[in-house]
Amino acid sequence: MIALANDHGGFELKEEIKNKLEKEGYDVVDLGAYNEESVDYPIYGKKCAEEVASKNAEKGIVICGSGIGISIAANKVKGIRCALCTSVEMAKLAAKHNNANVLALGGRLTEKKLAFEIVDAWLNTEFEGGRHEKRVELLDNM
Ligand code: RB5
Repeated sequence: MIALANDHGGFELKEEIKNKLEKEGYDVVDLGAYNEESVDYPIYGKKCAEEVASKNAEKGIVICGSGIGISIAANKVKGIRCALCTSVEMAKLAAKHNNANVLALGGRLTEKKLAFEIVDAWLNTEFEGGRHEKRVELLDNM
């Protein structure tokens, strides 16, 4: 299961990503917001992060206008490693080195095609483990 959450600035891109993932056969849960009315991104970052931390979802994708606020919110939940990615390389590294369990995107800054490539790269790249294992453990114990 992949949990999705967004504020008004991330609504449009969330819809695009949701449709894409559903077409590809992923189970997706949409935690809102469900339209472009102004809302507060911390609430939605937390919702998605809690869904992942509680293992109701394996991974989460959070989207606000810049991706910054909602990634900060998600990272406040214990067990969450949320990475704001603006390139395919960052998405691969977030998976390989940081075992990021939540991906953050900026709905107003990252256009759809690149956002799709980032999502694909993050979902299809494995955690390398090894020397990164201990570092991820240190993060989780903070
Ligand atoms: C909302 O206007 C905007 O501040 C929000 O989407 C996000 O960019 C915050 O980091």
